[in-house]
Amino acid sequence: MTILTQACTPFEGQKPGTSGLRKKTKVFMQPGYVECFVQSIFNAIGGLDGKTLVVGGDGRYFNAEAIQTILRMAAANGAARVIVGRGGLLSTPAASNLIRQRRADGGLILSASHNPGGIDADFGLKYNISNGGPAPESVTAAIFEQTQSLSSYKTLDTDAIDLAQLGEVMLGGLCVEIVDPVSDYAALMQTLFDFDAIRALISGGFSIRFDAMHAVTGPYARTILEDMLGAPEGAVLNGVPLVDFGKGHPDPNPIWAKPLVDMVMAKDGPDFAAASDGDGDRNMILGRGVYVTPSDSLAVLAANAHLAPGYSQGLAGVARSMPTSRACDRVAEVMGIACYETPTGWKFFGNLLDAGRATLCGEESAGTGSDHVREKDGLWAVLLWLNILAVRQISVQEILQDHWQTYGRNYYSRHDYEAIATGPAQDLMQNLSDTLADLPGRTAGSLAIETADQFTYHDPVDGSVSHNQGLRISFAGGGRAVLRLSGTGTEGATLRIYLELYEPPTGKLDMEPQQALRSISAATRALCQLTERTGRTEPDVVT
Ligand code: G6P
Ligand code: ZN
Repeated sequence: MTILTQACTPFEGQKPGTSGLRKKTKVFMQPGYVECFVQSIFNAIGGLDGKTLVVGGDGRYFNAEAIQTILRMAAANGAARVIVGRGGLLSTPAASNLIRQRRADGGLILSASHNPGGIDADFGLKYNISNGGPAPESVTAAIFEQTQSLSSYKTLDTDAIDLAQLGEVMLGGLCVEIVDPVSDYAALMQTLFDFDAIRALISGGFSIRFDAMHAVTGPYARTILEDMLGAPEGAVLNGVPLVDFGKGHPDPNPIWAKPLVDMVMAKDGPDFAAASDGDGDRNMILGRGVYVTPSDSLAVLAANAHLAPGYSQGLAGVARSMPTSRACDRVAEVMGIACYETPTGWKFFGNLLDAGRATLCGEESAGTGSDHVREKDGLWAVLLWLNILAVRQISVQEILQDHWQTYGRNYYSRHDYEAIATGPAQDLMQNLSDTLADLPGRTAGSLAIETADQFTYHDPVDGSVSHNQGLRISFAGGGRAVLRLSGTGTEGATLRIYLELYEPPTGKLDMEPQQALRSISAATRALCQLTERTGRTEPDVVT
């Protein structure tokens, strides 16, 4: 096996976004594309000499091929050990756990998360650091810099290795260790939750369904929910990972997981249902007749986490991304703990978790997690909900009602306008941003504007500053709108408009959310001149 040094010319646009590099699969399949990005990562982290990495992905099209490329390059770059999930599979939270458990120097996760998979769909690759979390901006910036000047990469002249066999294989001087992707993760879950209580709940007739959407969580959910917790076979739907996710869109929201939502809305539907995304870090929670918005889920989990063994000592603090509703802020206030507001992107929670300032974190984009790993974690959220339901012995619907009657309700919805031409989308944001200072005191539609600003984050742990993280407008009467452009799309620009309205415990708690948010939505569209600038009148996705 010879180490080859191949000359290369930089590819344009290898700039990591909200969650690593995400492009069309065919872009990644260009000769040398993966190699250039991976070598840039290795260079940016000071080389691989003697290091240990974790590598795995969500099993989408091109996952297996890209992993073989990474292994050859890791060997050629002098790594000592690479830990790979069998078949190249690792959910994102399981990869984060392995990095931590095995004290690896970092990890490469192959996923485009909730984006569709296939040769004509999306692919992604991201680097996680030794705490198990996504690389912070300083590291992604260094990677991008490398991609712009790279002149060669190193690889090994060798055949592909069999990823289906557990155990160790030598690849030149590199030891490739193929591990069961589920067992360490399942063991971690057992330390956090009362499996006996959940098993008793399920055997007592409480019915559950989990939709793995033909993505990576299938094997995890089958082991944990069916084998360990006794849910009947078939409780896990679409449990076999497929390279194209069965041609579905593995995004756990009411649009893409509609069959599951229809199931729980039926009179005889299951008591509890949930879904996860392509790489297993997102979650959607449902109860019979009810969809729990991610922001409410975070607030409910924060208020009840102490009922699970892993959190019985209480929470150090909570954190949410800025566009996430402020429902968890009210819980934190009552509990007398800190609540941090960060930019969108799980990487911003890393410092707070490492410093012990926050125990639970969450985002409106269906991500919730805790300090057990450094990624959001779909199945973890499902298990925490089940643990809480097992202790409280009331329905999901009753938990929500009780929560709103205690803390008030933050009506919430996100409206996405997808695949807008990049120019007009950026102009829309720029134009609104330029007028922010003049907005307070003015009215939009029927609403008076109280404040308007651009969100800048000052990391309280390392002092770093992140600018331009979204536009926020607050209205008289407790309403808020946030606007930002997605950092994870692969086609044009996606404008996200996040809408929120607070009703106190004594207020109207049973409105239909879109109805409750109508005037805020109208005011925001008018303010940003949505239709004039983009031609759009209706959102493509409403969550
Ligand atoms: C990924 C990240 C999340 C983030 C989400 C939305 O899933 O891991 O932390 O909230 O993308 O990002 P976007 O930029 O598309 O709104
Ligand atoms: Zn994901």
